[in-house]
Amino acid sequence: MRVHVADHPLIAHKLTYLRDRRTDTPTFRRLTDELVTLLAYEATRDVRVAPFDIETPVAPTTGIHLASPKPLVVPILRAGLGMLDGMMRMLPTAEVGFLGMVRNEETLEAHTYANRLPEDLQRRQCYVLDPMLATGGTLAAAIRFLVELGADDITAITLLAAPEGVERLQAELSDIAPPVTIVTGAIDERLNDKGYIVPGLGDAGDRLYG
Ligand code: PRP
Repeated sequence: MRVHVADHPLIAHKLTYLRDRRTDTPTFRRLTDELVTLLAYEATRDVRVAPFDIETPVAPTTGIHLASPKPLVVPILRAGLGMLDGMMRMLPTAEVGFLGMVRNEETLEAHTYANRLPEDLQRRQCYVLDPMLATGGTLAAAIRFLVELGADDITAITLLAAPEGVERLQAELSDIAPPVTIVTGAIDERLNDKGYIVPGLGDAGDRLYG
């Protein structure tokens, strides 16, 4: 598994306001949207493309366009939904599949309550969206769903990650064949005893949707 921390001053600047408890919900949503666009730029560096012939007003030339099959974008409900518009702005022809997952706040186990993924993901590149990688249980389960359906390249985009969650994913996903990449805005200090990222930003779902 490859981990890429998108170390960029604009990302750090927007994350600072996102973390601030004084930031209200409309501003939190807008910052999330802007951050995803910046993270998507990094995360799609290896998106598959194919040659595409065009003519400029001056001469014929060959450019590129997205290869088929088109990539699949998978927001993890609820909080991942706040990242969908920003991602689709960068990949407007991608397909979208949905996973609804919630973490039991006592056991910290992830529970899946909705699964609307295409049945066949053979040869598909997938981009998973979830603002927080805390214990890693949610993302580990989501990535396994995609691998079982045949996805052969998976990139997860998170705004923040905890070192414990990154380590867990490294260990739990060591047996799967497809390449997995995590692109995140920052890796914070640690998890607290309630499974929250420290310093983090609180509960992303609540801050996005109340
Ligand atoms: C949060 C967050 C991630 C998950 C991360 O979702 O958005 O999906 O927890 O935790 P983990 O890495 O320890 O599994 P939550 O369960 O609060 O659901 P929500 O998005 O509906 O608020």
